[in-house]
Amino acid sequence: MMSDFRFHINAVPIHGFHCHRFETLSSTQDLLKEWVSQGLAAPGTVVLAEGQTQGRGRMGQHWASLQGKGLWISVYFQPYLPVDWAFAWNMNLALAVCKALDTVAPWGAWQIKWPNDWVISTGRKVGGMLVENQLKGSIITDSWVGIGINVDQDAVDARLPFATSLLAEGHGSPQAMRISGVALLDNLLEALLAELERLREPYSPDKGNWNIPQIMDEVDRRLYGLGQNVPFVCEERMEYWVPLGLSHDGGLRVRSESGGQIQALYHPHHRMFYGPQF
Ligand code: BTN
Repeated sequence: MMSDFRFHINAVPIHGFHCHRFETLSSTQDLLKEWVSQGLAAPGTVVLAEGQTQGRGRMGQHWASLQGKGLWISVYFQPYLPVDWAFAWNMNLALAVCKALDTVAPWGAWQIKWPNDWVISTGRKVGGMLVENQLKGSIITDSWVGIGINVDQDAVDARLPFATSLLAEGHGSPQAMRISGVALLDNLLEALLAELERLREPYSPDKGNWNIPQIMDEVDRRLYGLGQNVPFVCEERMEYWVPLGLSHDGGLRVRSESGGQIQALYHPHHRMFYGPQF
């Protein structure tokens, strides 16, 4: 077990967070969870690795985390939210990341791909989020939020035809061409933690510090594929739906291209498919 002395001395304070930076880790998410289980990490602890050897994505997938090429971090929160609001927690986090991308990489039209990826409007994925919650009864007491954002991959990886990076999307933008990958990574960390800072305060019904309709509205305005006929994967089949916005419980309201009844799709039963065009 790591001594308390080393634990505190290595952290850099950024916007009220304590950021622990490592050259290479297997996974920032796994280390942060281990620290919490050992009673070492308080809410606001951030683990950042310049590279990960076993980065984890959602649904047990591997997350490619090349050394120095992206922002790979995990952040520990104690949100104290009702479990019914887990989707709103996810959406609010996705919104925070999207706003940070707007600040540091204004050359991209960054959007949220339901339920929690960030894409440029051509449909290429620039990053993703792995949210792991712990419940006590019906309350989300602890949340480990792993965020991966591709920053400096120069060409789209041939094995991942729908992946991209902040700088790869900046071709032709003087702002993107002037900034180095290292500087952009620093700016992104700073902007992201500034956005996440407002989510650190635990939910309190008296303060009314969670306005779900407002969060849903903001997400709706940034939803990828809105009003277009988009492919979804459902039980190995491809289906086409036109997204209209979020439903009150975190589903995606859709209708068929020819009109018809509006219904809600739920993740992961329906997964929005990536593609440069619909
Ligand atoms: C996804 O889109 O599937 C989510 C990807 C999340 C990747 C990040 S990188 C930092 C943190 N550590 C991990 O092992 N995974 C998350």
